[in-house]
Amino acid sequence: MIGPLVDDKPLTKMALDFDLKYFLGDLSPVILWFGAISAVIVTVNVFCRLWLFAKAFILSPIFGLGVKFDHYGKWAVVTGCTDGIGKEFALQLAKRGLDIVLISRSPDKLADVSLEIESTYKVKTKTVVADFTRGVDLYDEIKQQIKDLNIGVLVNNVGMSYRLPSRFAELDDGQNNLKNIIDCNLLSTTLMCNMLLPGMVERGKGIVINNASLSGLVPVPMLTMYGATKTAMDYMSKCLQEEYRSKGIIVQSLCPAFVATKLSGLRRTSLFVPSTTRFVQAALCTVGIETTTNGYWAHSLQAFLMLSIPECIMLRLTHFVMEKAGIAERKRLERKKQKST
Ligand SMILES: NC(=O)c1ccc[n+]([C@@H]2O[C@H](COP(=O)([O-])OP(=O)(O)OC[C@H]3O[C@@H](n4cnc5c(N)ncnc54)[C@H](OP(=O)(O)O)[C@@H]3O)[C@@H](O)[C@H]2O)c1
Repeated sequence: MIGPLVDDKPLTKMALDFDLKYFLGDLSPVILWFGAISAVIVTVNVFCRLWLFAKAFILSPIFGLGVKFDHYGKWAVVTGCTDGIGKEFALQLAKRGLDIVLISRSPDKLADVSLEIESTYKVKTKTVVADFTRGVDLYDEIKQQIKDLNIGVLVNNVGMSYRLPSRFAELDDGQNNLKNIIDCNLLSTTLMCNMLLPGMVERGKGIVINNASLSGLVPVPMLTMYGATKTAMDYMSKCLQEEYRSKGIIVQSLCPAFVATKLSGLRRTSLFVPSTTRFVQAALCTVGIETTTNGYWAHSLQAFLMLSIPECIMLRLTHFVMEKAGIAERKRLERKKQKST
């Protein structure tokens, strides 16, 4: 029993009814409608997300719902293609019958990848040596070398991050490093899109995949400038998709979490850290289905959970984790240095 009964209702309940009517007055139907409309929006949103998830990660790989890459042009361009995710993009696009323009900085590694692709998939390759930290001048040279090719697919993959998680003003060789990260991640994506979109528009088809990162969607302190460039890439991809949708062009923002590569420093694969092969196979099935994607089902779940947590809490959490990771990595490097001396 909560309190004495009047007309079979506890007094406290009657007081609550009275208070609500008193405070809400004529607003109570508005609030009821607002609640109902919010519930409908949340339900539709959840349903759409589940449908897209199923379509991209279950139905597309099984029934081949994704795009046919070779319908978009004879050549694919992949930047940062001699290792990691970029190399796997080059291999898997060659497997789908496309000739590949390989753009990266190490001539020897470029020659090896070119040989591997040509001998395995019997397609043509063209290599372009380019260091994307060089700035704007580089792009005229690249343009000269690929201007006569029918390019249907562009994968803006090249990227660099901090060597160690660091506070913004305490980064080793700060100014230079920050400039290189912007040049390599953002300037390259911007100017490669600017170079190749006009040809795609002329032909009325094309695919651009911009390899951003989950850290462009969820802020990660101690990797601030890396994340900032990835946020800009994601923003740019979404807007470009809208600008060029009617021209038959697909622009996708790819936002992976950890993949086992040199850049992530993770060698061992697991459910949440796929190999480059598993990741790129999954990511290619999402093209034409998701405009912004995490590329791989477990990364999508990870992103959903991280984006559901209020940002003020997530910022503290990612800051704490990155700070600890930075300290551990510095200690590991120090021990390694002491051993070698
Ligand atoms: N791995 C992850 O967990 C992860 C997660 C989210 C997003 N990403 C994004 O995925 C992309 C690829 O990452 P990854 O992990 O595959 O990296 P990676 O294994 O380090 O490979 C990077 C590739 O880019 C080339 N490259 C690096 N700097 C360059 C420069 N200044 N000029 C020209 N080429 C350059 C490298 O060439 P060399 O072979 O000569 O070094 C290599 O081929 C990046 O944009 C990264 O931000 C990665």
